[in-house]
Amino acid sequence: MSHQASHNSDGTPVRAFDSTSKLAVILIGAIAAIAGIVMGVANPFLSNAVSSQGIMIDTLFSVLLGIATAVFVLVQGLLLYSIVRFARTPDDESDGMPIRGNTKLEVLWTAIPAIIVVGISIYSYRILVDIDRPQPDHIKVDVTGRQFSWEYYYPDYDIKTSELHIPLGRQARLRLTSADVNHAFWVPQMRMKKDAIGGKITETSLTGTELGAYPVVCAELCGAGHAVMRSQVVVDSEPDFQTWVQSQIGAKQRGASAAADPVAYGRQLVNQFGCNACHKLADAGAVGAIGPSLDGLGSRAGTVVPGQSAEEYVRNAIVKPSAYVVPNFQPIMPSDYGQRMTDQEVDAMVKYLLGQK
Ligand code: CUA
Repeated sequence: MSHQASHNSDGTPVRAFDSTSKLAVILIGAIAAIAGIVMGVANPFLSNAVSSQGIMIDTLFSVLLGIATAVFVLVQGLLLYSIVRFARTPDDESDGMPIRGNTKLEVLWTAIPAIIVVGISIYSYRILVDIDRPQPDHIKVDVTGRQFSWEYYYPDYDIKTSELHIPLGRQARLRLTSADVNHAFWVPQMRMKKDAIGGKITETSLTGTELGAYPVVCAELCGAGHAVMRSQVVVDSEPDFQTWVQSQIGAKQRGASAAADPVAYGRQLVNQFGCNACHKLADAGAVGAIGPSLDGLGSRAGTVVPGQSAEEYVRNAIVKPSAYVVPNFQPIMPSDYGQRMTDQEVDAMVKYLLGQK
C-alpha cells in the first residue's frame, strides 16, 4: 500500500479496517442473529391460525420474518457503523483507497443468499405439497361463488348449504368454482385464499384445528355486493358434524313434503338460499342488514307497487329483483333465483313471506 493511501491529505492516518472494525462486525452480526431469532419466534404480526394448513404457513412466515429481520439488522448495522467510523473529515480532499474487486467477498455474498433462497424454496414447496396431499378420511365439498353468496355442496351426503361445516381435525377437500364472475374464497383465520373462477375448478384443503365459527370473505372485487359476500366456516366436533349433516338431510327430505309444514319449510329455504345473509327476518333467525327487512312483508306487500297484488310483488322481488328496488337500497340482489329455485320452492317462499305479518 502506498504512503498516500494510508494517510489523509492533512497527514492523519486513514481509518483502516482494523481489529476494532472486526470486533464491531462480529458484534453487529450477533445482534442481527439474535434479533432474527427473537422476531421469528415471537412473530407479533399474526393471530392464532385455526387450521393445520394455516399453522404450516405461519411457521414458514415466521422463518422468513426471522431471516429478513437478521438481514435487515445486519445491513443497516454495518451501514451505520461505516458511516460513523469511516466518515470523511470536512478538510479531507483525498481520494479513497484504490480497491479493485475482492473475490473472496464476492463469492461469499453470492453464495450465502443463494443458499438461503434455495432453502426457502424447498421448504415452501414442501408445505405446498403437504397442503395439497389428500388425507384418507377427508370430506369433499364443492364450493360455488356467485354474486353475492357462497354455496356449499357435499357430494357424499347430497346436501347444499350456505354455511361450510367441517369436522375438527379432518381434512376438507374443497373444489371451487364460480357461477358468474371471478370470486376468491378466503378464510383469514385459516390463512387460506383461493380463486373461484367460472368454468374452471380450483382445489384446496382445510383442516380445522379449533372448534368455532370463522368468517369466509370474498377477496376478489366481483360487483356492487362484493363487500357483503360473506359466509362462515364452522368447525364442529365429529358428533356435532354428523348431527348437523343429519339435520340438513332431514331438512331436505322435509322439503320434499313441504305441504306438511310450510312455515318450517319456508324458514329452511330462507337459510338454504342465503337470503339470511342480506335480509332480516326474525321468524327465520335472519339478521342480514344489506337488503330491506322482510319482517312484516306480508302486511305491506300489496301496497308497494301500484297495480301489483301482494303475491305478485313478493314473487317479482324474488325472481326479478331489479324490476323494483326498495328506496335507499342498492340493486345488488342476485337475479338468478328464478333459475336456481324450482317453481315449487318459489311458490313455497312466496307463501311463507306473505305470512310474515
Ligand atoms: Cu365475490 Cu367479491
